[in-house]
Amino acid sequence: MEIRHGINMDRARALFRREQERFVESMPRSKVLSTQSGQHLLFGVPLHWMNDWSTPFSLYVAAARGARFQDVDGHDYVDFCLGDTGAMFGHAPEPVARAIAEQTQRGFTTMLPSEDAAWVSAELARRFGLPYWQFAMTATDANRFVIRWARAITGRSKILVFNGCYHGTVDDVFVDLVEGQPRQRDSLLGQVYDLTQYTRVVEFNDLAALDAALAEGDIACVLAEPAMTNIGMVLPEEGYWQQAQAIIRRHGALLAIDETHTISTGPGGYTQAFGLQPDLFVVGKPVAGGVPCAVYGFSAELAERAQAAKRNAPPGHSGIGTTLTANMLAMAAMRANLAEVMTDAAYAHMIPLAEQLAKGLRERIAQRQLPWCVTQIGARTEFQFTPAPPRNGSEAEQILDSELEQIIHLYLLNRGLLITPFHNMMLVCPDTRAEDVQRLLAVFDQCLQELHA
Ligand SMILES: Cc1ncc(COP(=O)(O)O)c(C=O)c1O
Repeated sequence: MEIRHGINMDRARALFRREQERFVESMPRSKVLSTQSGQHLLFGVPLHWMNDWSTPFSLYVAAARGARFQDVDGHDYVDFCLGDTGAMFGHAPEPVARAIAEQTQRGFTTMLPSEDAAWVSAELARRFGLPYWQFAMTATDANRFVIRWARAITGRSKILVFNGCYHGTVDDVFVDLVEGQPRQRDSLLGQVYDLTQYTRVVEFNDLAALDAALAEGDIACVLAEPAMTNIGMVLPEEGYWQQAQAIIRRHGALLAIDETHTISTGPGGYTQAFGLQPDLFVVGKPVAGGVPCAVYGFSAELAERAQAAKRNAPPGHSGIGTTLTANMLAMAAMRANLAEVMTDAAYAHMIPLAEQLAKGLRERIAQRQLPWCVTQIGARTEFQFTPAPPRNGSEAEQILDSELEQIIHLYLLNRGLLITPFHNMMLVCPDTRAEDVQRLLAVFDQCLQELHA
């Protein structure tokens, strides 16, 4: 008998087979669409990751609104994945949908700013505390551009990241620590450059390692999430950022904070909630209510240095920006989202509800004496297969268990509850109701009972 993370895996695998059969039987239309798509889509899906969910074939969505969506076979779901943060403020929020509908009468993209640009940049400055802003289509692009700016501004070539990080498909960041040595992530496709040449990597929460890695004075910027979220959640230790910021500054490196996921903390992100003072700041995914758009901000000093770097460069391509960046449709969506959706009131609803969820999960895990824990960052909650929360990427990686995750995820999905694939993360949005959380807790409990009995 194999016991992993307190679970009898033989029993869990039998449960998974049963759940797979249940999925196949109840999803005839998704099955037809999957088969048809297989004729013209690589791997039968528009993006190859879409095959990495727990389902035997892809689940096709008919419509999504607020905290709910319906699949093409007519089943209803409460969505705690919310597009892995893209829909953190609910699917198709009404003010954003309205703003987009209105903007469709006034054009989509011109490579020129609309009036919304002035309002949006002032609001970003108010909300996040950085005075100057630029835009990108995705958080990946925003991070890529931030790295460019940091290198151009400092004249330094290297960046520093934390082991186990994810900042989108930015090549520079895919360097891991393997047995203490930097190594390019094995799974990358078609990556031919030696990424370790320009990227240094250290463990999160290790101030001495950070200090040592910066000591050569060749790091342009530290690119970091304030709390790691992509290898399972890893929270900063008490006082970590205060000291880390001082070290980064002392070595003349810049701090670029990526809040694409930690925007779950509050209206001004983790940065405002915990008084961080980044030089550069990124947020993407939900910033325009789920319409593709990302933003990045500069401190006053950095803005001056960035403008000087551009002025002093030869004319021609900067390597920063894309044609549709800051298009009028996205700017209208972002204005409506920032003004009417991503509000203090929305967070005031989301965070207490996420606290209820985290508390409920803890209680159910404790009742069954499982060696698991629950971590929360504002509206973002995650259960992890370890009794004590991980302190860095290596510890977090060791406890990932995609087999066990998939069993739990499919069990929930078959009962109308969607959580985020690849780890055990759940988001609540302004439309999530207390009874949705209670339902998730009840089905989670039922799943534990079946796994544990
Ligand atoms: C912290 C962080 N930054 C950036 C990104 C990239 O976002 P996108 O895939 O929208 O470019 C992600 C995606 O998960 C992320 O988690």
